[in-house]
Order: sequence, then structure tokens, then C-alpha cells
Amino acid sequence: MFSAAYFSETKVMSRGIVVLLGPPGAGKGTQAKHLFAEFNMPQISTGELLRSHMARHTVLGAKARRCADGGLLVADDLVCGIVEERLAEQDCGRGAVLDGFPRTVCQAEWLNRYLYSQDSVKSFSRQIPFIVIKINMQENELFRRLTGRRVCPSCGRAYNVFSGSVGKPNVCEFDGVDLICRQDDAHDIIYDRIKIYEQETLPVAQYYRDKGLLREIEGSRSSDAVFSEIVQILEEVHPTHRKQLHYQALVRSY
Ligand code: AP5
Ligand code: MG
Repeated sequence: MFSAAYFSETKVMSRGIVVLLGPPGAGKGTQAKHLFAEFNMPQISTGELLRSHMARHTVLGAKARRCADGGLLVADDLVCGIVEERLAEQDCGRGAVLDGFPRTVCQAEWLNRYLYSQDSVKSFSRQIPFIVIKINMQENELFRRLTGRRVCPSCGRAYNVFSGSVGKPNVCEFDGVDLICRQDDAHDIIYDRIKIYEQETLPVAQYYRDKGLLREIEGSRSSDAVFSEIVQILEEVHPTHRKQLHYQALVRSY
């Protein structure tokens, strides 16, 4: 007989680092939240962490605002610093989903050093599974998604006016807070973000492709279809995940 504690333990799927790469609006945040909801994999969204600093008017937030509001990348050392801090938290001990990080080759090299250097404060195992999943999307669909996006300023959940996911009266279905448009979802800023993605982040995809760590998926399908493919990839690359999913099926059948 399995105990309740045993089952809640098997719900944790976070045995490794999963990097979600993709252009603005590809669905990185949506899928990262799905992975957290289903498998307790902590989401580290550098965009959300920076927005939280800006909302709290921290020193880091003030430095980030100059770039983030205009769609430019925030300095590598600031972003690596907040990722380092977050990865050191207890819930990330078995790994995490990195949403929107790394997005420069310099950040990717830093992450590599951080995860695998012997004097890493975090002391992740050298064997920690690592996979990069790139969500591909056509540019015109990105514009549609981003101009239609509404977010909850409290929990960060994203909704969309075009997919009918924004209910009436325009509030977050989880915490009842009024939804807002993100500052950087203005048309001309979206354009700049996509250009920066092409210049700075596509080389990151190539960096991981060269190391044999990159998987690519098509993002222009339903959120559930994209999620299923991500889970399939995780099952392939992290054999322990298959076992955990099997236990979850057992839990559900009880
Ligand atoms: P960040 O917050 O990371 O923004 P981004 O990369 O531009 O990506 P988005 O959050 O806009 O899109 P997403 O892929 O998460 O899509 P979502 O799931 O919301 O970064 C913001 C800024 O912070 C940067 O510009 C930069 O200034 C700074 N920054 C962050 N990280 C940095 C770093 N590492 N280095 C330097 N600077 C950094 O989905 C979009 C919409 O589509 C939503 O409405 C959603 O509901 C909908 N949707 C999602 N999936 C589907 C689907 N399958 N079908 C239909 N609709 C869908
Ligand atoms: Mg996002």
C-alpha cells in the first residue's frame, strides 16, 4: 500500500534543468506554469523576477526598468545574479524550468559554469539532466498572441483575448485580480523584442544544438498539444520522469 506522503513525493518531476527557449509569445511562460501545476517543477522566469523587482522598486528593478520596458535585454550580470539566487533556494534542489533564460551566449556559458563547476555553491550533481526545448513560432502569430495577452499582475498567469481565455469580467480566475496588458506588449516594442531574440538568442539555440542538447517543437498548436510533446521529450531524456508519471497514473486510478 502506498502512503499519501509517497504519492505527493512522486508528483515531483523536477530532476534536472529544463530550459525553455523561444521568441516572445511562443508560450514559454504558459508551458512552464503547466509543468509546475502538473509536476511541481519550479519555474524560474527571469522576466517575471525582473518585473517583480520593478514593482517593488528595488535597486535592481530600477536598473532593469531602463531596458525591460523598452524590450531590450537586461545586463547579463544582473540576470545571472537573480538566477543564481533563485537556483540556490531549496525547492530548486532537484532542478527547475528556466523560462526566458539563458538568452545570450554569455548567460549560457555562465549557466554551464554554475551548474557544473566543482565550487558551485549549489553543488548540483555533475550528472544533473539538462535539456533545452525550443518552441518555434511564426512571427505573425507572435504579434497576435502578444497584442491579445492579458496578465494577472499578482500570479503572472497569462490569458488571451483572441483565444477566449479572458473571461468576464476580465479578472484572473485564480485570484480575482484585474488583468493588465504588459508594458512591453506594445506593437513597436514587440517588433524590437523579436529582432533582439533573433540577434542574441538564436545563437544560444545554436550553442546548445552544437552540444546535442537542443530539441525543437512547434508552438502554434493548442497549449495541451505543446505540453504533451514537452512531457514526451522529458520522458525520453529523463528516464526517472517516466517512472514518476507511471506512479501518478496509479494515484489517479485509486
Ligand atoms: P520575458 O517576460 O521573458 O518575455 P519574452 O521572452 O518576451 O516572452 P513572453 O513572456 O512575452 O512570452 P512567452 O513565451 O512567455 O509567452 P506566454 O506563455 O506568455 O522577458 C521580458 C523582458 O525582461 C525582456 O524583454 C528583457 O528586457 C528582460 N529579460 C528577461 N529575461 C532576460 C534575460 N535572460 N536576459 C536579459 N533580459 C531579460 O504566451 C503569450 C500569449 O499567448 C498569452 O496570452 C498566452 O495565453 C497565449 N498562448 C500561449 N500558448 C498558447 C497556445 N499554445 N495557443 C494559443 N495561445 C497561447
Ligand atoms: Mg513569459
